[in-house]
Amino acid sequence: MSRDAEDLGGQAVPAQKTLAPIPGGEGNGEGVEESSRQPMSMNLIDPFRPGNEWKLRDGSRRFLELRCHGEGHEWQRRQARGGPARPTMSFEGERKKGAKMKYRSLGKSGIEASVVGLGAWAIGGWMWGGADKAESVRAIHAAIDAGVNLIDTAPVYGFGLSEEVVGKAIRDRRDKVVLATKCGLVWHEERGEFFFASDEKHPTDQGETKVYRRLAPDTIRREVEWSLKRLGTDRIDLLQTHWQDSTTPIADTMHTLMELKKEGKIRAIGCSNATREQMEEYRAAGQLDVDQELFSMLDRKHERENLPYCAKHKIAFFAYSPLAQGLLTGKIGPDRTFQDGDQRREKPRFSAENRLKIQRLLDLFRPIAAGHGISVGQLAVAWTVSQRGCTHALVGARTARQAIENAKAGAVELTTEDLQVMGKAIEDHAAGIP
Ligand SMILES: NC(=O)c1ccc[n+]([C@@H]2O[C@H](COP(=O)([O-])OP(=O)(O)OC[C@H]3O[C@@H](n4cnc5c(N)ncnc54)[C@H](OP(=O)(O)O)[C@@H]3O)[C@@H](O)[C@H]2O)c1
Repeated sequence: MSRDAEDLGGQAVPAQKTLAPIPGGEGNGEGVEESSRQPMSMNLIDPFRPGNEWKLRDGSRRFLELRCHGEGHEWQRRQARGGPARPTMSFEGERKKGAKMKYRSLGKSGIEASVVGLGAWAIGGWMWGGADKAESVRAIHAAIDAGVNLIDTAPVYGFGLSEEVVGKAIRDRRDKVVLATKCGLVWHEERGEFFFASDEKHPTDQGETKVYRRLAPDTIRREVEWSLKRLGTDRIDLLQTHWQDSTTPIADTMHTLMELKKEGKIRAIGCSNATREQMEEYRAAGQLDVDQELFSMLDRKHERENLPYCAKHKIAFFAYSPLAQGLLTGKIGPDRTFQDGDQRREKPRFSAENRLKIQRLLDLFRPIAAGHGISVGQLAVAWTVSQRGCTHALVGARTARQAIENAKAGAVELTTEDLQVMGKAIEDHAAGIP
């Protein structure tokens, strides 16, 4: 990927110390391989120009490759024009010798899934301002090629579209995939618990769609048949109840799921958006292998109950939205705008003020990320799957490039010290971020 700093005629950036622009192009050189400390030529003025590449060793002699992205460049320019006081850089890096994706069990099911899974919500387009089908297929293929075997989708993502795209993408590689989908959010019937109305459905449909939570046996069976068809397969590796339905006893739901397992239509059972008490009820009626919940550096409420509960009972915990829908990549700068229909347009978390707060938090992590030769987004994912009880992270990707970057986080080993430093920064700075 990258050329040596010597080849570029540039000066390597000290990986563990300085990640702000180097005045006059002078780094302090600490931790940088002697041979890579060359007088800077092309990079004197603009060391972080997008596309610039660096190759250096950090203090522990790990070999790093860093590539600068546009966002950092933009931040620098803004600063020059009197913009935000603290510019940030965005790096994408990788170790010279690629480590391997880690795999962990899905509860007691006997299924092993990559710690980084591909989340296919955005691929359905709905609530994400649309999606490019061909690029989505490329993203799925790239993820699989990079060692991801876990793909998480749901009928409601694009009202069938995400499952269809996933099905198309894995047609000739079904055996390489642990296919996870969901049930219980329905729009074909108005029974159960009303959840929300959407005026955006499949791109070709018009009008308002009412979505209900319903986990009754007949509904689950019908949904499974439709999912199998859309996914183009004869088995779902993991079926998860998407949101809990107060109108159906969990014992009835679980009974049906266990039957489906006996029939070979599904291989493992999970729940999502569930409480510890609800998990108890699932476990009383069968074998619960997975709990899927919102969890990231910015969303830590499950540290108190679900995570310890899952660890105790050997239930895999899937963290969803581990990048806080892109914010934790550090690539959502102040100028990023979102398409019509993209949920992030209206969310307070994506306000300009909040983006700055998050960039400041991420700045604290940049030395650690650089020390591992990874981006802050990869670090955020690696942090997520390093938390006690959190076995897997479902990371959404809309492009092959994103999918590859995210997959690489599944090979990262953070040290106890990294986790302590990050834990302190999160305690001190993340609490005030909505
Ligand atoms: N069970 C549930 O109720 C539930 C709820 C939510 C999510 N989930 C699952 O969890 C998965 C992941 O959650 P999520 O999609 O909400 O959020 P996420 O994984 O935190 O963020 C995904 C978004 O971040 C951006 N992104 C991802 N990788 C990137 C990279 N390397 N560089 C730059 N930007 C990158 C992309 O958006 P842009 O490129 O547009 O910026 C992408 O769509 C979902 O797909 C779904 O499978 C489940």
